[in-house]
Amino acid sequence: MRHPAPPPPAATAPKPNPTDSSEPAPPRPFQLGLPALDAFPRKLWARLAGRRARGLSLAGLNYPDPAGYPPLREAIARHLALFRGIHCSADQIFITSGFQAALGLAARTLLRPGDPVWMEDPGYFRASGALRLAGARLAPAPVDQDGLRVDEAIRREPDARMAYCTPSHHSPLGVTLSLPRRLELLDWAARRQAWIVEDDYDGEFRYDGPPLPALSSLDRSGRALYIGSFSKTLFPGLRLGYLVAPPDVAARFAEACNLLSPAPSTLDQATTADFLDQGHFARHIKRMRALYAQRRAALAAALQSECGARLRLDGQAVGLQLTAWLPDGEDDRAAAARLRARGLAGQPLSAFSLECGHPPALLLGFANVPAEQAPALARRLREALDLPLPK
Ligand SMILES: Cc1ncc(COP(=O)(O)O)c(C=O)c1O
Repeated sequence: MRHPAPPPPAATAPKPNPTDSSEPAPPRPFQLGLPALDAFPRKLWARLAGRRARGLSLAGLNYPDPAGYPPLREAIARHLALFRGIHCSADQIFITSGFQAALGLAARTLLRPGDPVWMEDPGYFRASGALRLAGARLAPAPVDQDGLRVDEAIRREPDARMAYCTPSHHSPLGVTLSLPRRLELLDWAARRQAWIVEDDYDGEFRYDGPPLPALSSLDRSGRALYIGSFSKTLFPGLRLGYLVAPPDVAARFAEACNLLSPAPSTLDQATTADFLDQGHFARHIKRMRALYAQRRAALAAALQSECGARLRLDGQAVGLQLTAWLPDGEDDRAAAARLRARGLAGQPLSAFSLECGHPPALLLGFANVPAEQAPALARRLREALDLPLPK
């Protein structure tokens, strides 16, 4: 008896599963720290990445330069000179897996256990956490509308070995470090032979004029380290960032990369280098600046009309988040929990505070809020916070 022909063998390559639980969750409305994932040119990226993967040579399987893929270091040096006012050689640039790895590298290369470090207060909790873990003793430095208060930081901890700061767009308050404060900070570092770590995580995104040059572009004494990240300019799943070391300590950083923190996958670095070299990066940033300006304005207007004076918005027109001040006496952690319960994101300002204390506020990411969805999301936020409609 003849048996029916067996079914054709199943294709061996598993099909991508759209509900694959190993995928990170999609962004929630108002989630902080994300660029517009919906606007990233994925097809273009996939084409560049595919070309690189197909062209992989035998030599390409070998151990690469731990400091980073040389053409990417060159491309970053050109980008920094053009867009951030920083003139450095590619040898001063070290490729890392994002900001965290760059900060860890700086701490392990330049600090000894117990060294005091000025930390902006409020300030980025991953920076304070990482510095603490690296053995630093945190010295909270208050922040006002002109950024980090250098005079007060000196009064509190004159012997700090390092200062961590976000001059282009303070995280999380959104203010810009003023020119007099920049000069004061550089002067202190030069006099005390201390280090400044400039975290320039989203300085490319300024909406009321061209981006300000980086603080490091004013450094004449070789005391400022610059950390850049591709998490906002490209996408955070890439996990790529870089550190620019002053010339005198570049060799120490090369050694530290080699021993502690070699650069990530060459394929990703090469794709990123192609993206920069072929002009896609500059074009993408230009396009995103226009999109973010529109999304920011739409969300601000929608929140204003839904919540009125109960939610005061401020922060300069920079970056990817809005600061929404709650009425005095409100508990911002409880407010953030209410948002979470309704499927919304947003973070309480108090989660960024060390000891200086601030009025309550919510930080709301707008990059993933399309303008047409802003009114409905602002309504959901008002309802979650149980605020009355303004009269
Ligand atoms: C203040 C600050 N610095 C740096 C980063 C970038 O970190 P990473 O490069 O690790 O994604 C972020 C991301 O949200 C941030 O908020």
